[in-house]
Amino acid sequence: MRKLTYVVACSLDGFIGDEQGDASAMHRFLDEEYFAFLGTELPETLPTHVRRQIGLDGQPKKRFDTIIQGRVSYDLALKEGITSPYAHLREYVASRGMAESPDPNVEIISDDLVGRVRALKAEEGGLDIFLCGGSHLAGELLDEIDELVIKTYPIVYGTGMPMFGSGLDIKEFTLDGVRTFTNGALVRTYTRKS
Ligand SMILES: NC(=O)c1ccc[n+]([C@@H]2O[C@H](COP(=O)([O-])OP(=O)(O)OC[C@H]3O[C@@H](n4cnc5c(N)ncnc54)[C@H](OP(=O)(O)O)[C@@H]3O)[C@@H](O)[C@H]2O)c1
Repeated sequence: MRKLTYVVACSLDGFIGDEQGDASAMHRFLDEEYFAFLGTELPETLPTHVRRQIGLDGQPKKRFDTIIQGRVSYDLALKEGITSPYAHLREYVASRGMAESPDPNVEIISDDLVGRVRALKAEEGGLDIFLCGGSHLAGELLDEIDELVIKTYPIVYGTGMPMFGSGLDIKEFTLDGVRTFTNGALVRTYTRKS
């Protein structure tokens, strides 16, 4: 069974961005030490143009071979003229409104989101599935998430976009590991408690 892993960056108070979802205040923590960690441990979670800049283009995949993101998150790349932001992965975008995909590498999931994700998880072999977010999509897929990789940066937003755009839904996870960084960032990995 392939895992669905939500890899997400958040503030100390658990927000993935400001109220509009803008996460740019967290970019200051992408320093050399932290970036080296991402490039080594979570290389597929970096967008293709960043991988290219740091020489990861063409490297064998380590953790993930598939990504799923919500349409609002995908729009951020589209606005920059990038139609396949994770071209090194099989890309799925959840959208009820997009009539067709702007890129042959991107497949739109417009209905039965949970069924489609379960089918991807049930595929034989392959690597895991990177759930990129945003908040709304992660909320819809909370019951399907097997693993969390939470990248916490030492800032407080006070208010903002939650990690899961869902109602009260208490789930338990087990802590697998913690990595700390000189700049105060913290990366925790959790597995869903069965
Ligand atoms: N900090 C981080 O690590 C991180 C990571 C990712 C994103 N973000 C931030 O998150 C923000 C976006 O989050 P968001 O919650 O507003 O939006 P989102 O989750 O990225 O996308 C929501 C959209 O996904 C589609 N969707 C959701 N559920 C669906 C379903 N069951 N079936 C089909 N389509 C479905 C809908 O698209 P349609 O409206 O087209 O139907 C919906 O409007 C961005 O601002 C981004 O910066 C932060």
